[in-house]
Parts: sequence; C-alpha cells; structure tokens
Amino acid sequence: MIRKLTITRPDDWHLHLRDGAMLEAVLPETARDFSRAIIMPNLVPPVVTAKQAAAYRDRIMAALPEGADFAPLMTLYLTEDTDPADVAAAFNDGLITAVKLYPAGATTNSASGVKDFDRVMPVLEKMAEVGCTLCVHGEVTDPAVDIFDREAVFIDRVLAPLRRRVPELRITMEHITTKDGVDYIAASENIAGSITTHHLIINRNHILVGGIKPHYYCLPVAKRELHRVALVAAATSGDPRYFLGTDSAPHTDPNKESACGCAGVFSATNTMSCLAHVFEAENALDKLEAFASLNGPAHYRLPVNSSKITLEKQEEAVIFPSKVETGDGPVTVFDPGFPIYWRVA
Ligand code: DOR
Ligand code: ZN
Repeated sequence: MIRKLTITRPDDWHLHLRDGAMLEAVLPETARDFSRAIIMPNLVPPVVTAKQAAAYRDRIMAALPEGADFAPLMTLYLTEDTDPADVAAAFNDGLITAVKLYPAGATTNSASGVKDFDRVMPVLEKMAEVGCTLCVHGEVTDPAVDIFDREAVFIDRVLAPLRRRVPELRITMEHITTKDGVDYIAASENIAGSITTHHLIINRNHILVGGIKPHYYCLPVAKRELHRVALVAAATSGDPRYFLGTDSAPHTDPNKESACGCAGVFSATNTMSCLAHVFEAENALDKLEAFASLNGPAHYRLPVNSSKITLEKQEEAVIFPSKVETGDGPVTVFDPGFPIYWRVA
C-alpha cells in the first residue's frame, strides 16, 4: 500500500480569494499547498479592467504570508463593455492569464455578466488571436430551465454555438458537474474542464437528504450520483483535458446558514488531502499529479512548477480545523463526510 506520494507542487485553476479581511484569512490556506491559482474577478465591484486587476494583484501580494511560494494568476471579468485592446494588452504584458465569462445573474456577483453574446464577440475574437483563455461559468440563467439541467442546456444553447463562431478560442469549462460536461469536452477541441474537489465527493443527496446542508450548496449545484461518478472517472483518468479548479469560495457562516444562503464551498484547507483520498479509492494515486499539477499548466501553456509536495498517509484520521476565522466572521471548511488519512507533509 502506498503511504507516501511526492508530486509536483499543485496549482488551483479556479479560486475565490475575495478582498480585505477575508482575503487575509483565506489566502494562507491556499498558499500553503499551491504554487499558483487563477483568481476569480467577481468582487464587488468586479475586476473588469487591467488597472483593477493590477491593483487586486498588489493587494493579494501584500496579504501573502512571509516566504510563501505562491503567485496569483489574474483574470478579468467579461462585460458587454470590455475593451478588446485592454484585454489583449493585459494578456500580452503577463498581467492576466484568462478572462472570465459569467452569464448575467448565474451566480454570486454576476450581475455585470454577459446577456447578449453578440456584444462580446470582438473581445472573444481578439482573445483567440492573442491566445488568451476564456474561463466559462457554464450555466444558463433562463428561469424556465431546471437548476439541475442548467449546465447541460448551456452546452447546447450557448457553448456549442459560441465555439462555432470562434473555434480558435481556448476555453476552460469551469467546475463541470455533469457527465454531459465531461462528454462534451472529450469530443471537442481547444476546450478543457476544471473539476472541483467537492464535486468529486458530494452529489445532490448530500445537500438535501436528512435536512438541508447549506455548506454543500454551491453553483453549479451538485447533481445526481451518475454525474459525480463521471467526474471522478474523468479526473482520475490522467486525460490532460481535466484538471483541478477547487472553486473554493468562502462565505461567512451567517451568510451560508440563512433563509437565502450564499453559494460556495470552502475547500482550500483540505483539498489535497481529499483528493489523495478520492484518487486512492479509485486506485489512481499515480494520476493525482496529472490532475493537480500537470494538466492545468499544459492547458494554459504555462511551465510546470519546479517545487514538490509530499502527501503522507497516517494511521489516525487527520483533524482539520472545522472553521477558518476571518475578520468578517467564521468560514466553514468543506467536510467530506468521511475520515481522511492523507496530509501534506
Ligand atoms: O458556488 C459558487 N460560489 N459558485 C460560483 O460560481 C461563485 C462562487 C462565489 O463567488 O461564491
Ligand atoms: Zn467560482
């Protein structure tokens, strides 16, 4: 039995750090195990210009613990007023790694997202030309579409037509939650899928059976078990088109445990331990490095990290803090629902 695993230090290709007191409290949780992370731009107000991205990057760097081995990879929030030239310059200068597309109203702070795709075509064409990746929140917002179908419908109604219009555009379909997402990516070019830690572990029963569990509620919402199984198969396959994006998204407990609770699972603290557990259960520990450390940089055409981390399996279950205290209030850490024996040494 494998009890020790050394892999290239991982990256997180989808992370929410927020700002201010929250940023200060959650950043060390990611910087401990990860070298880089794609930082989501859905602040209030959103990060829409290169200038705002540079200022946000400076705030993240200022919040980093002494000696941390971590670099934020910045993104811009795509709006119908985004200037193609601003995006191209920010990408060519190395300031941003990607642009994020939120369909307007799809999730937390997405009100400034895209309603009319015709209006963003010039930006998408420019991005295809310079090689900048589009990160996509893949859910339709049509109230007539059932929330559990919103990802599959997005593929048909939005993603497939968009890819026909700009086939050269590199796309990350973020936090895929369905077999439909897995299969669509497997059959397509220039598109990869990120997968969260929690979507490899929970299905919709975990949210709803035996009482409502607000800390498992996120968007896209976890689907039925057959979809979780498809995600695990994709993640543990070693296929370079699937990689880790935790979508670790902190909200304080009062904002989660409410009559209208916020969407988001905070998994930065124990992600690598959870992943080692999932991959071991699939007899695929040898594929963990591809998923967490190699496939993401290949998709974003970035070098692989040179440093390593070691995961160790111990006899006793690892005790993770159940909450991270922040200046804004406590944030609950993702509970996988079973004991975990793997820890990062
Ligand atoms: O669960 C989510 N939380 N999904 C998102 O798309 C946004 C995120 C957040 O910002 O809290
Ligand atoms: Zn997210």
